[in-house]
Amino acid sequence: MTEHLHLPASGCPVLVTGGAGFIGSHLADALLARGHRVVVLDDLSTGDLRRVPRGARFVKGDIRDAGLDALLLEEKVDTVFHLAAQVDVRRSVEEPVFDAEVNVLGTIRVAQAAGKAGVAQVVFSSSGGAIYGDPVGERADEDHPLNPCSAYGVAKLAGEKYLAAIAPEAGYLLTVLRYANVYGPRQDGRGEAGVVGIWMNRLLSGQDAVVNGDGGQTRDFVHVADVVAANQSAFLNRVPGVYNVGTGIETSVRELYGLVAAACGVDAAPRFGPGKPGEQRRSVLDPSRAREALSLAEIVPLEGGMRATAEWFRLHRAQEGLG
Ligand SMILES: NC(=O)c1ccc[n+]([C@@H]2O[C@H](COP(=O)([O-])OP(=O)(O)OC[C@H]3O[C@@H](n4cnc5c(N)ncnc54)[C@H](O)[C@@H]3O)[C@@H](O)[C@H]2O)c1
Repeated sequence: MTEHLHLPASGCPVLVTGGAGFIGSHLADALLARGHRVVVLDDLSTGDLRRVPRGARFVKGDIRDAGLDALLLEEKVDTVFHLAAQVDVRRSVEEPVFDAEVNVLGTIRVAQAAGKAGVAQVVFSSSGGAIYGDPVGERADEDHPLNPCSAYGVAKLAGEKYLAAIAPEAGYLLTVLRYANVYGPRQDGRGEAGVVGIWMNRLLSGQDAVVNGDGGQTRDFVHVADVVAANQSAFLNRVPGVYNVGTGIETSVRELYGLVAAACGVDAAPRFGPGKPGEQRRSVLDPSRAREALSLAEIVPLEGGMRATAEWFRLHRAQEGLG
């Protein structure tokens, strides 16, 4: 146990579950750039092999399968970044059993395998947006009541609790990062900030974009680079605990549309469609604890982040021949 309190050795091997996904692939890039051996485990259900960096070892596999401990032992993995998940909130409502199989049972498998293999640290990607529900006060801090209003939110919360319950016996240090709505290059329409990718693809191809409801619903949009920085800091400094990773800035979907449209060079108004039944009205995280403990003072400003993301979508669409 004391050994685990040591800072990670330079270049030590790490596993990124879900490393062919949007956030996981950025994290894999950053860890490789720091000289770590990076193993990516992903079943490619929503991931894309093209996102996995060339220097990483890719293992196609399901977190729910037994045998993960053998991989961790073989690679002498120091830290597991657990991002693999069923991330579609709507699918979780339609198929809560499937969602729980991946997000709850899969996470228990990861926890057990980490214990068996003597992994030093697990860094878990959770969701502040999905587990707090509508914030009671101005912003939700980590002590905010937990009121998940989707099966996805319930499962993410259960994942946190199982990882924490198994940690003392398993001996890993646990960091839980509760993300706001993450946007940036490589995102697709499925995640919690999927709307950014959907709108950019539509606007850049000359189509209109739909705002669900009156657009007054709010979210906290955080750039993927800030999420990667939080993961890296938790790992490099071995920081245990639960942290919100967001901006603390509450942005309405209408305001977001303005930013996305400007970044895409479009001045057309959005089309307003019917609201989504049961959709959360407000969501914004208080990121103060993470800023201090993980030294995340600088964050990517929303306007610049949107411009850079639109630039990536432009290039990507051109490379894919989408014009
Ligand atoms: N994107 C957001 O706004 C956001 C917000 C809060 C939390 N999160 C969390 O961050 C993590 C990454 O999300 P993302 O947006 O990059 O989603 P993503 O869908 O791009 O990435 C998830 C990856 O996990 C893989 N995967 C799914 N089921 C698997 C399984 N059973 N076994 C192995 N691999 C499997 C997928 O193929 C995919 O590559 C998730 O845990 C998600 O809950 C994301």
